[in-house]
Amino acid sequence: MKILVTGGAGFIGSNFVRYVLKTYPDDQIVNLDKLTYAGNLENLAGLEDQKRYAFVRSDIGAEVEVDAALSAGDFDAIVNFAAETHVDRSLQDAQVFVQTNSMGTQVLLDACRRHKIPRYLQVSTDEVYGSLGPEGKFVETTPLAPNNPYSASKAAGDCLVRAAVGSHGVDAVITRCSNNFGPYQFPEKLIPLMIANCLEDKELPVYGDGMHVRDWIYVEDHCSGIDAALRKGVAGEVYNIGGNYDVPNLEIVKTILRVLDKPESLIRFVKDRPGHDRRYAIDSSKIESQLGWKPSHTFEDAMRSTVDWYLGNRDWIEHTRSGEYQTYYERMYGNR
Ligand code: NAD
Ligand code: TYD
Repeated sequence: MKILVTGGAGFIGSNFVRYVLKTYPDDQIVNLDKLTYAGNLENLAGLEDQKRYAFVRSDIGAEVEVDAALSAGDFDAIVNFAAETHVDRSLQDAQVFVQTNSMGTQVLLDACRRHKIPRYLQVSTDEVYGSLGPEGKFVETTPLAPNNPYSASKAAGDCLVRAAVGSHGVDAVITRCSNNFGPYQFPEKLIPLMIANCLEDKELPVYGDGMHVRDWIYVEDHCSGIDAALRKGVAGEVYNIGGNYDVPNLEIVKTILRVLDKPESLIRFVKDRPGHDRRYAIDSSKIESQLGWKPSHTFEDAMRSTVDWYLGNRDWIEHTRSGEYQTYYERMYGNR
């Protein structure tokens, strides 16, 4: 397959690029990424000389740039990871979220039609379903009910994909995954932020009472799920992907402290996130039964290898936390 991966310099995209190049010796990837604050070519170190891999710095919202990337060859698929992804940032400035996550998706769908791309995969999130009560899990037919600008902009993207299938016959599938963790995750998200702070014996800021529940999946399992949906998924279908490990945030933070042998006194409860979704849990039985996917990592093992990765890549942490990150951290946590 020849795939245009967008957002491949970010956390999940870079893991996916590595996964595909390793799993399919004949596949080729062009990685189109704008390199926002979250995009980092260090995530792709070692791939620069691979003949099967090329990088293009472009914006998915810029039609001319997308056309130029696609006109280079016969692509079999576009896999769209490119997005603004942090809920807390979306609460401060939502416009860029709509531009990239909603408008950018439409630009890619239009390009699919113009260039007759046989398959489009939209990487989406369980957050489009909104918050659950104390019981139940998200299934693919759960109504969309996003509660923050990030999830609303992703839900709009999903609706545009659905419309492109229904109105124009674009061959597209959508995956909706739960919270990922693993190597190369930008340390604004819960798990890498807590690991990075622990390494410096800094306070661990837990929002509200710490009892908000998320389902956690190791990034490599998400990549294999996307791959299954890309190669075997049915056009127009949505596939939920989850790790079957839904627990309160406080439990995640305590696990990190245990693995790193740090004291629970580092935990600091801080002011809650506005509109904070209380509980996510996801049912992945559709992709398991229809496409034969299942996660292959346990949470405990995956958390240990994630911590080991951060311990072994302190330079990477230093680089990602220099510059803009310091301003962001101060603004977000300084007076919280
Ligand atoms: P990330 O923030 O680590 O990376 C996003 C990447 O997209 C960066 O490389 C950035 O430079 C690039 N990008 C942003 N705007 C762009 C634009 N306009 N044009 C081109 N590139 C642009 O994100 P991530 O955590 O790797 O998430 C990837 C995708 O997976 C997103 O679509 C996200 O909604 C989805 N997702 C993430 C999670 C999670 O837990 N992180 C869970 C489910 C779904
Ligand atoms: P996050 O990693 O931002 O992912 P999302 O909001 O997309 O689920 O947050 C995961 C959970 O952790 C969420 O309930 C918010 C909480 N959280 C904290 O308690 N403290 C933090 O510093 C961060 C970043 C998140």
